[in-house]
Amino acid sequence: MNISKITEGVYYVGVNDRTTDRFEGLWSLPNGVSYNSYIVRGNTKTALIDTVEVGAVHNYFRAIFAEIGESEIDYLVVNHMEPDHSGGIPMILSHFPNLKIVGNKHTIAMIKGFYHINDDSRFMEVKDGDVLDLGGKSLKVVLTPMVHWPETMMTYLEESGVIFSGDAFGCFGALNGGVVDTEMNTDWYWDEMYRYYSNIVGKYGRFVQKALEKTSGLTLKYICPTHGPIWHENIAKVVDIYDRLSKYESEPGVTIIFGSMYGNTGEIAESIARQLAARGVKNIKIHNAAKADLSYMISDAFRYEGLIVGGPTYSMHLFPPVENFMIAMETREIKNKVFATFGSFTWASAAAKTLGEYLNKMKMEPVATLEMKHSASESTYTAVEQLAESVVNALKLK
Ligand code: FEO
Repeated sequence: MNISKITEGVYYVGVNDRTTDRFEGLWSLPNGVSYNSYIVRGNTKTALIDTVEVGAVHNYFRAIFAEIGESEIDYLVVNHMEPDHSGGIPMILSHFPNLKIVGNKHTIAMIKGFYHINDDSRFMEVKDGDVLDLGGKSLKVVLTPMVHWPETMMTYLEESGVIFSGDAFGCFGALNGGVVDTEMNTDWYWDEMYRYYSNIVGKYGRFVQKALEKTSGLTLKYICPTHGPIWHENIAKVVDIYDRLSKYESEPGVTIIFGSMYGNTGEIAESIARQLAARGVKNIKIHNAAKADLSYMISDAFRYEGLIVGGPTYSMHLFPPVENFMIAMETREIKNKVFATFGSFTWASAAAKTLGEYLNKMKMEPVATLEMKHSASESTYTAVEQLAESVVNALKLK
């Protein structure tokens, strides 16, 4: 029984990483991550699709040789050059001296830059729509720049309806035995998909939309991403999640992000949440920016329709952990939110102004703002009620 077989001629040779704490040095991995790689066997040629992170190469080679034995690999198709997928390239090249790397012009430039592989005879440059003939299996190149880097492309195995999609449709979370979604309970991967999309791909929504347009005419039987499960019976759901997220569409609910040094600004966050709940908002997520994981804050900010951010003035700036969150929002060009802000100060105001400046840069208009001096008074609680009312009314119009 070949347990790595996905469908006729397509085999899984990826590996799990349950050791790395932070993906890209930033995003927490409590459930690990998989680096997916695939072998496609035609009648005459064999292709490897992407490699894995350099630290995982030992197990990667074990998986490859378990699959191919003594036979050769003719092509390495590089759909994406981020080092979590390209780290194995130098070792694959040395092991298979006749293998050619298949990539577009940006891919090849990056391989030369990252890995100092300058022998042009090792490269086969491809363009959008080119087809790699493996003998009864045809891999068609679909360029999808900026999902997630400029060189990103997908490859479509025409005879089998399999798309090797790179980061698109991927998610955090190692594979726990099952590889294809039909072999597992997928429930816990959906939250990891939101987190992966918002953390990694979130800035590139319009490019994801272009890629979805480009792939919409293809018959998809299997989506083989570079991270997470291979999608077979959940294809419609996965495409829908990526479609909605890349259009910045979200679900009913409100995320509240706050910072607080001594609890006074935190009290405003709690009061806003209470007032929202009293007005019927059921999904409310509150994160203390000084303590919460940025990865999860971004994920909830993408997920829910409402976003309320507040913090104190700190040395004439916005409290740094809250500012860090706002930088993440600006970087991801977040849109289509019901936004409100609250700020506080003791002797000179800066937090509210800085929050307003971020919203200006993001071309977003808050539906309500609130500013407090020292600690909450009766007038503050009245302003909290008004803020909650404005947010709920705006949510009803969405
Ligand atoms: Fe999984 Fe953009 O790399």
